[in-house]
Amino acid sequence: EKGKYEHFMLKEIFDQPKAIEETLDRNLSDGGRVSLYDMTLTKEDFAKFNKICIVACGTAYHAGLVGRNIFEKFVKMPVEVDVASEFRYRDPFVDEKTLFIAISQSGETADTLEALREAKRKGARVLSIVNVVGSTVARESDDVFYTWAGPEISVASTKAYTTQLLSLYLLALYLGDLRGTISEEYYREVVSELSEIPEKLEKVLTLRGDIEKLAKKLYDRDQVFFIGRGMDASVAYEGSLKLKEISYINSFAIAAGELKHGTIALMEPTTIVVALATQSKLFDKMVSNIQEVKARNAHVISIAKEGNTAIEEHSNETFYIPECMDEVSPLLSVIPLQIYAYYVAKEKGCEIDRPRNLAKSVTVE
Ligand code: F6R
Repeated sequence: EKGKYEHFMLKEIFDQPKAIEETLDRNLSDGGRVSLYDMTLTKEDFAKFNKICIVACGTAYHAGLVGRNIFEKFVKMPVEVDVASEFRYRDPFVDEKTLFIAISQSGETADTLEALREAKRKGARVLSIVNVVGSTVARESDDVFYTWAGPEISVASTKAYTTQLLSLYLLALYLGDLRGTISEEYYREVVSELSEIPEKLEKVLTLRGDIEKLAKKLYDRDQVFFIGRGMDASVAYEGSLKLKEISYINSFAIAAGELKHGTIALMEPTTIVVALATQSKLFDKMVSNIQEVKARNAHVISIAKEGNTAIEEHSNETFYIPECMDEVSPLLSVIPLQIYAYYVAKEKGCEIDRPRNLAKSVTVE
């Protein structure tokens, strides 16, 4: 039921603090340890692996991109991420030393399922991150990590994405601990940051009114870029997908450092650039990228962490997310982008919950 919300998408955006809380509750013990009771993967199994391969489609793939950074950092192993429709046709190098992770909200996406079967044929161990209990992907995996987002009705994925992100963090903590690649202190710090996310999400959701006003002003622009570096680039891809799928605006995401290798040629005074600048180490680099697009008169909407006000003089608008560890910022920074996509589509009179040409579950190849 949509309740007080006009669309399922808006309801599901606002469901996120609760969904995240649920995923945390199900997987964290009182002592702040990630406890995965159903996990059959042992320390000995894990010691055999020499690589992790993450495969998914669309939004779930974007979650996988964040997952790569997290796994590299926590588990210290080579990590590949690919879209399922490419992975399954390129004769990927996968063997019994591979931990294959499939991510899927529905658990029924044809390409993801076939990629999983291919990885299994090649001997990989299969772990999946799935929302729908008992779905085909879940049934065919060696282990399943459920995201506990609850049913997602809107075609555009929101709470499934953030709970997929959270599942990847929890899994990376768990595996990092099994492998002894994460320090006790850092583990505790990450757990404490994750526990604070529901409250911080509530705060980010209060940006709704300001974002709606902005969407009313800018909804008829026909070109929107999303830029960022590091994990912000992965969030940029997701923000761009949200906007294009429900508002039909031609939108494009790119790692900010790549702009000057071609794409910056497209900047025009009517172009909107949504710039994510939440990564402390990359902040100055992002500010220079913002200056580059500003010099071409693009309209810049920035997303930064509270306190980083230096960005305001280079931006037309700035939205702040609460202070947090860089590693967990995707859980917060994607929210303004979801809300922006929603209100732009609403202004344009689009059918938000059922965008044209799209299906909730893509069971064709
Ligand atoms: C975008 C969206 C799609 C799905 C993709 C994979 O908002 O929902 O990109 O993420 O079709 O679907 P699942 O996760 O069900 O495998």
